[in-house]
Amino acid sequence: MSTAQRTIPKAISSHFDSASLGKQRDFLPLKGTDHVEFYVGNARQAAHFYRTAFGMSLVAYAGPETGQRDRASYVVQQGKIRFVLTTPLSSDHPIAEHIHRHGDAVRVVALWVDDARSAWQETTSRGAVSAGEPNVLTDEHGEVVVSSIHTYGDTIHTFVEREKYGGPFMPGYRSINSDPIARPTGLIHIDHMVGNVGWHEMDKWVNFYTHVMGFSLYQHFDDKDISTEYSALMSKVMTNANGFVKFPINEPAVGKRRSQVEEYLDYFPGPGVQHIAMATNDILHTVNKLHEQGVEFLRVPHTYYTELQDRVGKIDEPIEELEELGILVDRDDEGYMLQIFTRPVEDRPTLFFEIIQRHGSRSFGKGNFKALFEALEREQQARGNL
Ligand code: FE2
Repeated sequence: MSTAQRTIPKAISSHFDSASLGKQRDFLPLKGTDHVEFYVGNARQAAHFYRTAFGMSLVAYAGPETGQRDRASYVVQQGKIRFVLTTPLSSDHPIAEHIHRHGDAVRVVALWVDDARSAWQETTSRGAVSAGEPNVLTDEHGEVVVSSIHTYGDTIHTFVEREKYGGPFMPGYRSINSDPIARPTGLIHIDHMVGNVGWHEMDKWVNFYTHVMGFSLYQHFDDKDISTEYSALMSKVMTNANGFVKFPINEPAVGKRRSQVEEYLDYFPGPGVQHIAMATNDILHTVNKLHEQGVEFLRVPHTYYTELQDRVGKIDEPIEELEELGILVDRDDEGYMLQIFTRPVEDRPTLFFEIIQRHGSRSFGKGNFKALFEALEREQQARGNL
């Protein structure tokens, strides 16, 4: 057994043994996700899409007009979900290189902390590669401290300390007070964010989140859980100590044909953020609105719904309405959850979104994997990539 494999049972036991967890010092306390920054080819238009399709509001802007000469950034928000859409203003900018390689893509998964200096110190002393030393940003609204480390692929984690800040987002940004074109859809917070990593890299990144970030293994799915006739993947869900931040990590597994994770790795190319799950308290309302506003979702066949009642038992939502919208349901010991996945939100088959509503269940929809993967394979087939 490799060293990497030996560490996993340890992580599971420490997560479930609350007595031992209580005694361990959480060296990286996280208050949640602060924001997600995308590097995009045209930030003004990307912001329009997230406002009119997903219902976010434009809340802040930075660019040449605010003294940021080399790039423009639009901050859009709904509930606690905050996206920053950034584009470079010249072709030789490092951000342009990222866009050339990955298309519009997530660059920064920013985490909200009390102490960005300590977060950087604790993680870099455990082996994280720095992507930015602690830096104090100030303006008339106060100060924000940021620091960054590298994670999988070209993705980075930025630690954001904003205790002493009262402005719209960060120093350098100007506030936008009302957004006449935002069409809210009831999305409230990020439930989890999934990364795809390369072949045989799962244990490397599980170890990174365990040892460098102090996360532990929360759930684990192997190719027996996640496979169809053609393709397979493995997934491990990592969580921080208070459970506010969950990062499932996917690795492709051997199947007869190219799996969705392989397709992602080929087109992104390389490891990166695969999907962002956003929570709602009323999935029927949210998905109805998103659908009306042009968001496209994956569809599963009618037979999924004829078998649903037997599989999940009684649920509050009418099954006909779920079928009409294509919403999936799964149940575990603690309750049930509803979820639906968008088609990729750009032309490369890379990033997509999940909409999720939890009724007690803390699962990730294991009972839906097969139906979902078959739906994904139909899409891959249509792209000529299966
Ligand atoms: Fe998910």
